[in-house]
Amino acid sequence: MQNKQDASAFVICDDLYKIFKVADIEVMALQGLDLTVGRGELVGIVGASGSGKTTLMNVLGGLTLPSAGQVIVDGANLLKLSTGELTTYRQVDVGFVWQQGSRNLIPYLSALDNIKLPMTLAGRTGREADARARELMEKVDLPHRCEHKPIQLSGGEQQRVAIAVALANAPKLLLADEPTGELDSATSDQVYELLKRLNSDDGLTICIVSHDPAIAQHVQRVVQIRDGKLASETVRRRPRLESSAPSVPRLTGDVSQNEGGTPNDDNWEDHFEELIVLDSAGRLQIPKQYREELGFENRVEMEVTEGGILIRPAQNLEQTSSQAEIQIEREIRGEESGAPAGLLARLKRRTDDG
Ligand SMILES: Nc1ncnc2c1ncn2[C@@H]1O[C@H](COP(=O)(O)OP(=O)(O)O)[C@@H](O)[C@H]1O
Ligand SMILES: [Mg+2]
Repeated sequence: MQNKQDASAFVICDDLYKIFKVADIEVMALQGLDLTVGRGELVGIVGASGSGKTTLMNVLGGLTLPSAGQVIVDGANLLKLSTGELTTYRQVDVGFVWQQGSRNLIPYLSALDNIKLPMTLAGRTGREADARARELMEKVDLPHRCEHKPIQLSGGEQQRVAIAVALANAPKLLLADEPTGELDSATSDQVYELLKRLNSDDGLTICIVSHDPAIAQHVQRVVQIRDGKLASETVRRRPRLESSAPSVPRLTGDVSQNEGGTPNDDNWEDHFEELIVLDSAGRLQIPKQYREELGFENRVEMEVTEGGILIRPAQNLEQTSSQAEIQIEREIRGEESGAPAGLLARLKRRTDDG
């Protein structure tokens, strides 16, 4: 894994696999996932339903053991913790916020008692716990809702209390699995603002899973999971001019057509750029849209060009291998213009700076 030596790497997932077996059918929820999250980073994790996002959260939270691979959080290898250490990790070191309010909060307890519960489980009770719970209700802007039960709170308020519950034991990592999945966009924004504030004010490392690519507007970096592995990352590049600025990530490496603006232009804003992830074994995923558009099947040709690599559908598979070699050699020498326009797959190495 590339960043193993990086001292600022707070979360390291290295070649994670998770296989679920139901009856006789095996489901590969994670298939060689690599992910590094820096200390104090706010990362968005997106992906289609079933791509493995929740499984990843469960692994990071110490709730599920991976079938293979490594998970290191703040220097601790989760696979090597004893049962007692793992329990402490789950209770103290990591905080969870789930999509469903019912999973986050006990319905018959007040907001304040919900926050005190994880403290009690970790052995903190009495006045200190009460003061901490009230402090957290202030932190999530709900000091006037301490005695309310979940049913007496709005969906957005419930999720803010859920965040306070997750923070009860002062975790070093906050995991939020679609925390805004059941909220409207205005209420979602409030939840995101709160998470951003916890990240910027307290330096809390936060991973937010979302099905909404627009999360890129709220976080420093978005990673996309496809079929149980990291497929691409959307990073924010500033400053860049986008004349018809898309607010959601798009798959492109080409930003040059937008140069020429000034910071005073109205449309001077963040630029989102999606980069394809190249894993430690040199594998990358070519997006389905490209594969279909360009007629890629299970073999491609690769050619080193000036400063890059050209990938195109394998031609003339019926040729003998030596004929094919001659053909590729001739194309490399430029004797045939075999590359259709626009066939460039731009491969960019992952940047660590987000
Ligand atoms: N406990 C489980 N038992 C069996 N299969 C599971 C279990 N949890 C998840 N899966 C399967 O693993 C895949 C990834 O699931 P999940 O991590 O929940 O995806 P996401 O959160 O991205 O929707 C899915 O195919 C899902 O059906
Ligand atoms: Mg999920």
